[in-house]
Amino acid sequence: MRKKIVAGNWKMNTDKLKGSLLTHTVMEETNPGNFEVIFFPPFPFLSDIALISCQKQGFSLGAQNISEFDNGAFTGEVSAEMIASIPCKYVLVGHSERRMYFNENADVLNKKLLKAYQHGLIPLFCCGEPISERENDNYLDFVSIQIKESLFDLTADQLKNTVIAYEPIWAIGTGKTANPSQAQEMHALIRNVLEEKFDQNLVESIPILYGGSVNSSNASELFSQPDVDGGLVGGASLKAEEFIKIIASMETVLRNK
Ligand code: 13P
Repeated sequence: MRKKIVAGNWKMNTDKLKGSLLTHTVMEETNPGNFEVIFFPPFPFLSDIALISCQKQGFSLGAQNISEFDNGAFTGEVSAEMIASIPCKYVLVGHSERRMYFNENADVLNKKLLKAYQHGLIPLFCCGEPISERENDNYLDFVSIQIKESLFDLTADQLKNTVIAYEPIWAIGTGKTANPSQAQEMHALIRNVLEEKFDQNLVESIPILYGGSVNSSNASELFSQPDVDGGLVGGASLKAEEFIKIIASMETVLRNK
């Protein structure tokens, strides 16, 4: 069975104390035996959350970003090597907010992906279409292109160490979730596109998460879809009670499989 994951992307929210408390509470109340829970805190709290998250099996840490450069005079940037030394296991690459607000194009994303692999980080590669592409019925092509331009040049070994997240931009932070069949359609498409280039068994082993207004009411149905291997949760991951319920949804879905 593919690895199942529930990840919380805190984005630019919370503070050191509240973030630590949130992590403690979530870890006390949940037991992800056969899946993984990943915290993606802001950079300044990574070391604090690392010390907490390493204390129980099933919990991991990720960074929200890395530089495309190795080191040097890049004020404000954080390198893959630094992140790996915390240690972090994962890093987000290609989040729509980075693409939109920080002009991260395919060229930059490819450099970041390579830095991640070079330092032993697992990139959680995000893709997803804006509402205009969905309304024009061009959403499948749009995401296929994102997958092809960023992942087709990888080696099989690199792809093996990759997690994908489908996050339709119109569903992020809007309360408007993709319905389970919309998520399933895109996740299956992503797998089909990857199979044009990579071995079917390899592609079958890659976890594909759904992100975009995941909450405790919709998580079970989304996680029950055959090609949905978990969630990348934004807003709801900042509320301990909500995130705990989302993690519990994954436990229930896996128990009933
Ligand atoms: P929301 O869950 O707040 O919609 O955010 C999703 C997201 O962007 C996670 O990376």
